[in-house]
Amino acid sequence: MSNGEEKERAIDLFARHVSRGKVQFFKEAGIEFVMGKREGPYIWDISGEKRLIDCHSNGGVFNLGHRNPEIIETLTESMREFDIGNHHLISKQRALLAEKLYKLTPGNLEYTVFGVGGGEAIDLAIKVARGFTGRPNIISAIGGYHGHTGFALAAGDRKWYEPFGPMVPGFSQVPFNDIDALKGSLDSNTAAVILETIPATYGIEIPRNNYLEEVSKACRENATLLIIDEVQSGLGRTGKLWAIEHFSVTPDILVTGKGLSGGIYPITATCFRKELESVFDRDPFIHVSTFGGAEVGCPVALKVLEISSNADFLDQVNRKAAIFSRGFEKLKEKYPDTLVGLRQLGMMMGIELASPEMGPVFSKAAYESGFLAVYAYNNPSVVQLLPALNIPAELAEEIVARVDNALAILPAIMEALKK
Ligand SMILES: Cc1ncc(COP(=O)(O)O)c(C=O)c1O
Repeated sequence: MSNGEEKERAIDLFARHVSRGKVQFFKEAGIEFVMGKREGPYIWDISGEKRLIDCHSNGGVFNLGHRNPEIIETLTESMREFDIGNHHLISKQRALLAEKLYKLTPGNLEYTVFGVGGGEAIDLAIKVARGFTGRPNIISAIGGYHGHTGFALAAGDRKWYEPFGPMVPGFSQVPFNDIDALKGSLDSNTAAVILETIPATYGIEIPRNNYLEEVSKACRENATLLIIDEVQSGLGRTGKLWAIEHFSVTPDILVTGKGLSGGIYPITATCFRKELESVFDRDPFIHVSTFGGAEVGCPVALKVLEISSNADFLDQVNRKAAIFSRGFEKLKEKYPDTLVGLRQLGMMMGIELASPEMGPVFSKAAYESGFLAVYAYNNPSVVQLLPALNIPAELAEEIVARVDNALAILPAIMEALKK
């Protein structure tokens, strides 16, 4: 079978057995890309004909690039000795990883429960908050995103859960960066406020005017827990290990995922204060996850933490962040009617375009310009740019040049779409 035929067959099978709608969407968008070879900051189409710089990184899964050799070596080594393990038994691997997380997370998050996906980890965070406080209500941010599982879904945008019938009660949402709205919603029934440090799906909205500090204070005064979702913003993305370290806030619960996998072995973590562990006193088996914290994956997560917390690693993230910010500022001057804003903390970056129609079109222009960039689902005028954190400086310059190209061809694609 030729490469082209192999690709056609993959698309056909995907449409017939995985998702008809996705195939139709990508065909209509002229983005018929089937992921083939992948390495470092790049992904190739299965035909071998097109290479893209991955500036999506699956929301941070590929913070350390695709198929990072150190991660592969760690997993290969781990596979010689371990398997999934037994989620009921005491585990040295989970214990070591939980200790490392305790040492590296802000405040006093002494305990960790592991999961497989971010949604599961958020669900557990909310269970702990409800169980500990004995209160029912959870407040989250409008436009925020925490996953598609039970409680995580209820904490997210209405459009994701509306087709699926009644949600669990007790969830409400307030605008991000509006402290008065949050204070007005807190009451003696509020178990927790859950926020992404930087809401990614809402368009990389950067917290302003001590918002997070004020949220933390208001929560404390109300005996409400603060859950910080670092699934996208954590693990060096913002130039510090955790984005929340940019603010004077110590969360009661911190959730991490995506990049913790090293892009190779799925694992997520819900880290919380010692007192909150009392939720499991009566029945320590009340929450279990068969694959959560699989022993074979724990050394991978340890390696990710070791790499991402290294001071030199974080320095080079900040140096490249400066290249991007200089480059994008220039592009803002060059395209004042198209590029109207920048949202950036370290290498967590969003470029704000003049209209919500432009975001999806920019994604297409990016594809034509050789990079993968996805618009923010809950704010399509913003395009997220999350390249791997370990790219060379020259590649950062090249990405800026390719963004320049995408902005240049954007009007022509917009015009063509109108016809
Ligand atoms: C901020 C945030 N939290 C939670 C999740 C859910 O993670 P998962 O897709 O692994 O369930 C995501 C996924 O994109 C996310 O961006």
